[in-house]
Amino acid sequence: MGLNYYQIKKNVLRARKLVIKSTNSAGSGHPGGSFSMAEILGCLFFKYLRYDPKQPQWENRDRLVLSKGHAAPGLFSSLAVAGYFPESELETLRKFGSKLQGHPDLKCPGVEFCGGSLGTGLSYSLGIALAAKMDGKNYHVYTIIGDGESDEGQVWEAAMCAAKYKADNLTAFLDRNFIQQDSYTEKIMPLDEKLEGNDISEMWNDASRWKTGDKWRSFGWNVIEIEGHKIEQIDAAISKANSTKGIPSIIIARTIKGKSIEHMESNPQWHGKAPDSDIVPIINLELNSQFMIAPSIIAGDMTHLENEIKRCVTGRADYIHLDVMDGKFVSNKTFDHNKIKELRSLTILPFDSHLMIDEPVKHVREYVEAGSDIITVHAEVCDESSFGEIHDLLKHNQVGVGLAINPDTELPAWSYKFLPTLDQLIVMSVVPGKSGQKYIEETHEKIKRLNVILNEHQFSGYIEADGGVTLENAGSCFIDGARCFVGGSAIIGQKDIRGIINEFRVQILKSRRKILLDKAYQLGGSTLVKKWIDLHIIGEKKEQIRKIAAEEGYL
Ligand code: DX5
Ligand code: ZN
Repeated sequence: MGLNYYQIKKNVLRARKLVIKSTNSAGSGHPGGSFSMAEILGCLFFKYLRYDPKQPQWENRDRLVLSKGHAAPGLFSSLAVAGYFPESELETLRKFGSKLQGHPDLKCPGVEFCGGSLGTGLSYSLGIALAAKMDGKNYHVYTIIGDGESDEGQVWEAAMCAAKYKADNLTAFLDRNFIQQDSYTEKIMPLDEKLEGNDISEMWNDASRWKTGDKWRSFGWNVIEIEGHKIEQIDAAISKANSTKGIPSIIIARTIKGKSIEHMESNPQWHGKAPDSDIVPIINLELNSQFMIAPSIIAGDMTHLENEIKRCVTGRADYIHLDVMDGKFVSNKTFDHNKIKELRSLTILPFDSHLMIDEPVKHVREYVEAGSDIITVHAEVCDESSFGEIHDLLKHNQVGVGLAINPDTELPAWSYKFLPTLDQLIVMSVVPGKSGQKYIEETHEKIKRLNVILNEHQFSGYIEADGGVTLENAGSCFIDGARCFVGGSAIIGQKDIRGIINEFRVQILKSRRKILLDKAYQLGGSTLVKKWIDLHIIGEKKEQIRKIAAEEGYL
């Protein structure tokens, strides 16, 4: 089984957009804390939770308790994406008579607990977890608590009690975003240590300063600490928690309040405030503009691929691109599924297998079994029927479905019907076969042309730029529409992989800011540009963006 990486990502994106839509139409609500837990909910709803939206009260369902109930827009949005009610209902958030109130209420299908009065959700969850044991049921209880909420003494009473009664069917998530209603948690009531100044990024990064895990361990819990926006880390944590017997588990997820929107990220103002209508389209574009970096390991030392995998991990890559060449579809040979299987145990980072092989339909199952999370096959060696078979097999195994086209191939008409569910499209920008070639400039035009077809056919996947991508052209690939960036010689071929990946992020971010400024300007001229820039109050973002705006003539 794959990670369900792209499906989770796509659903999380939909849910985030609904949070924006609903809080904007309500004129109030809590987007910050809804966004910090978005990936956690995504992994739960679209991978782990057992539920049936048509029978919300099905007695064997897993229970999800949102103890930090103010993040209700996040829960409601995920429930809608999961099929409990139409997404259009989010527009009734906080309106009189709606089942979607400011805090979760049992009249909303899928809601297990009336959250809002902070501190009580873990006790309630323990109650239903113990009831499951007494009733001989095997449902699991997942509970999301906040770090501000952890100021409440009742959280710790529940913690003691859950350990005493060995509630191993209870898993808590601590949404550790370091911000509560009035300020930073580490100023109000430190869980780790007192914060001097206003910069939480250092504390976020420096594991030697974290004490929260020790507190929970001393209460007798199994503690798992992760980065809470990384799907593969959440996935691994949940499966570890589920297999831990005899004690309850807590997943301490370091998250970012307002994650995905630069002006909201780690900004205490966005705890409980709705975005203005004129900013909403810019926010939606920003949500559509998240990007990923994937090093291609064949550009490294082919005799020590294990080491290249480790470098991807230390470089903080988003996932790893694995170029499989069979000596037939392309003249070179690299490795096959056996090697991927060997490498699989080295990391939990998602594996993106790019199969440059003949007759992929005959071999694709081996690549699923080897542990790929995304598999891309070439259009040149597929037709509607074989790609249909591949598509269904991959979806069934929660593996992302990718299609690649060579520089001189157009997207075949048979592929159009798959576009709404296709997860990844690679528009090759070199003739496949080896790394280290020069980017074919016509690819920019080709992608622009393709975007029209993709929009017409409701493509909601990701365009991956692959071949000759460098620091110099990554920004323009982003503007074309690419959201995943494969780097062979420009990343793996470099010594300081962490530094170079960071530089890629900086370059691409610059292009992203440009298109957002452009959008603001189109919609509201320099007045809206200024308003949008002024929202960026944390760190040095405002100055950086203002500089780009001045260069582009928007001010
Ligand atoms: C080309 C491969 C690419 C390539 C990337 O056949 O699909 O992934 O190795 O390497 P660079 O970035 O060096 O072109
Ligand atoms: Zn590739």
